[in-house]
Amino acid sequence: MTETPELPPVLRPHVPLTAYYDDEAGRQRFVRRIFDETAADYDRVENVLAFGTGRWYRGQALQRAGLRPGARMLDVGIGTGLVAREALKIIGSAGRLTGVDPSPGMMGEVGLPGVELLAGRAEALPCADASRDFVSMGYALRHLSDLAAAFAEFHRVLEPGGRLLVLEITRPQGRAATLLLKTYMRAIVPTIARLVARRSQTSHLWRYYWDTIEACIPPERVTAALVAAGFAQVERHVELGIFSEYHAVKPA
Ligand SMILES: C[S@@+](CC[C@H](N)C(=O)[O-])C[C@H]1O[C@@H](n2cnc3c(N)ncnc32)[C@H](O)[C@@H]1O
Repeated sequence: MTETPELPPVLRPHVPLTAYYDDEAGRQRFVRRIFDETAADYDRVENVLAFGTGRWYRGQALQRAGLRPGARMLDVGIGTGLVAREALKIIGSAGRLTGVDPSPGMMGEVGLPGVELLAGRAEALPCADASRDFVSMGYALRHLSDLAAAFAEFHRVLEPGGRLLVLEITRPQGRAATLLLKTYMRAIVPTIARLVARRSQTSHLWRYYWDTIEACIPPERVTAALVAAGFAQVERHVELGIFSEYHAVKPA
């Protein structure tokens, strides 16, 4: 009898948020719809909220993770292309960049020449085995169905020695800092979003953001899942107490 390899258990990034949807299928529909409907506002709101530093920060994080000129890179959850835009400046004309996202609305805003865009999800990447030397995923972790499946996919598409960068916002340590961020994200951000956005759903999206940050599994479970997926040199670098950068390498 041939043995079927055991799949790791499903690892959800957070418990179901039933104020927004009923079940996992409903969550996927909700996430897809909210990104599709608010895509045209995403860059403007991001720019106002990050005071214009969001792009600069993404570029710095890519450099810290070891992205180099000429890389064959995959950006998962490319969205409107904020990580990809900075990555192109680093990989240069000798590099190659593919973006994957389930939201046609978000990918419709990318507009970066030479970038290959593929509809797909982190949990089932439309890319060949060992076809990339760098994989990035910016602020999509909280929207996945299964981190274990996604990390196994990142491992599969990377060549030995290839590097991974996952960016995510995480709850700060300490009650006062959490309360401060919660007030900012739950009250101030949706109000600003309502003022600068053209789509009525935009402030709803940013409110949902906080709820996923608050409900998200702790960083130690993310790093443990990366190790379980076969990654080495798994590290978490934190900026300003809330910007987490998960670095990992597929062993050579
Ligand atoms: C907050 S946006 C981040 C976009 C971009 N990476 C950035 O840094 O601004 C999250 C993106 O993840 C995408 N997404 C949602 N579920 C996903 C999944 N299962 N796999 C890959 N991307 C997903 C959404 O469609 C959305 O474009």
